[in-house]
Amino acid sequence: MLDGMNTAPVKNVSGPHPLRGGMVGMGMIFDETYRPFFEAARAEGVYDHRCGLLDVRLAAVASRTGSRAQRYLDQRRDQLGEFRSFIEPNSVAELIDSGVDFVCVATPDDRHFEAAAAALQAGKHTLIEKPSVLSLEQLDRLCQIARQNGVLAKVVYHKLLDPDHKKLRTLVVDGQLQHVNHGYCSLLEPKQISGSQFAEWIQGRNPGTYVAVHYLKLIDFTFGGRLTTISCSGQRGIVGPADGDTWDSTQLRLVYEYDDGRTAAFDIHTSWVTPDNFPGYVEQEVQFRFDNGVWNGHSRKRGVECTVEGKTPLELKISMNNHYNGEFAEPDGRRTQRGYGIEVIERFVREVGLVEFGGSAADRAERLEQVNALAYNDLSADRQVVAAVQAMEAILERHAAGRPDCVVRVNDDRGGLVLYEPGSATPEVLYAPPV
Ligand SMILES: NC(=O)c1ccc[n+]([C@@H]2O[C@H](COP(=O)([O-])OP(=O)(O)OC[C@H]3O[C@@H](n4cnc5c(N)ncnc54)[C@H](O)[C@@H]3O)[C@@H](O)[C@H]2O)c1
Repeated sequence: MLDGMNTAPVKNVSGPHPLRGGMVGMGMIFDETYRPFFEAARAEGVYDHRCGLLDVRLAAVASRTGSRAQRYLDQRRDQLGEFRSFIEPNSVAELIDSGVDFVCVATPDDRHFEAAAAALQAGKHTLIEKPSVLSLEQLDRLCQIARQNGVLAKVVYHKLLDPDHKKLRTLVVDGQLQHVNHGYCSLLEPKQISGSQFAEWIQGRNPGTYVAVHYLKLIDFTFGGRLTTISCSGQRGIVGPADGDTWDSTQLRLVYEYDDGRTAAFDIHTSWVTPDNFPGYVEQEVQFRFDNGVWNGHSRKRGVECTVEGKTPLELKISMNNHYNGEFAEPDGRRTQRGYGIEVIERFVREVGLVEFGGSAADRAERLEQVNALAYNDLSADRQVVAAVQAMEAILERHAAGRPDCVVRVNDDRGGLVLYEPGSATPEVLYAPPV
């Protein structure tokens, strides 16, 4: 069984089935993962035994100015093929009207909701970059629109597909590692991210929402349990003023409770001000302590150290993550770009293919349910992650306003997400329904 789903051969494995993709946002992550996915899909097709050959094309893109889209059309038309480019204002509506079958949303994280809502409303299967959205109200709304329109609403958390994290989860699922007690995760991004890459939208933002979510999801998906408490501290003064609302680094703490009444605490440290001459592109480390063991993982130091005179560590990195996304001269002579960062997009496209072409029209609703039940990427399974993000954003907002050290509790007597501020007698309900 693949994905826990019924993989019995189906009759309708014809094809090729055309699938036209729409891309909202053409920034860094488009270049790292979506571009190689669409290029490989165009060159080789995507074959899935459950639905046959999928002829996947990038059909249209939406972005603010269209300048990068034009550059791709100028420089990689042969690899990407012809696509239409729409620009603001109204780029997303125009992309949807142009006739696409699925939409990928890779805009800055505070602009995911509008684009995803429009795509789902128009009946398009939708894949959203992490973090899916910034509040549970937005999450509820997107899940509701997806359900009403009978389409998939999925989110990209590629770290769940990292072979090391899959092994961690396997040991947990198999009971080899028993009962997590506590853990820490660290993800440090280079200064170039905050200083130039994201300069346009960094004001008022923090690296926790941007990257701690990777580990929020890993913890939530791997260990399960109920999130009970969220707290967060942070530092300022490099990306923006020391008393401003733009954060250099954050330290997020989550407490989970499990069915046996025991708890675990996790600390997730993130920043986007690591010097650009750091030996790896990002620093990523985790440690999880169990009743009967310890898991230590380091995504950067997986065995390779490479020095090239005059190039490392700036142009080339000394330690590299060849599992996430790398360019390779394959033994058979092909040039490829592959890794779990790309695989996660391909999986979504296969899921779309399964729903649309994996059997008779009469059984479509059943296939949709099957794919909706995949907790690793379904929006409906992102509740505790979004709850943590919403709480972190609220805590940092109050900190920037001179009220640090707030704590958010989940599902207590007052509501689903309740913020407690030191010195204030009145807790604030951020989200009333149960999380
Ligand atoms: N999976 C990962 O590891 C990973 C890595 C990096 C970024 N991301 C996520 O991808 C998203 C984008 O990040 P990025 O690094 O590519 O950002 P970026 O700043 O490089 O690119 C953002 C893109 O969005 C476009 N855009 C902005 N506002 C828009 C609007 N209103 N309508 C249409 N297009 C708009 C811009 O024109 C640009 O093309 C973020 O959610 C981020 O968290 C994920």
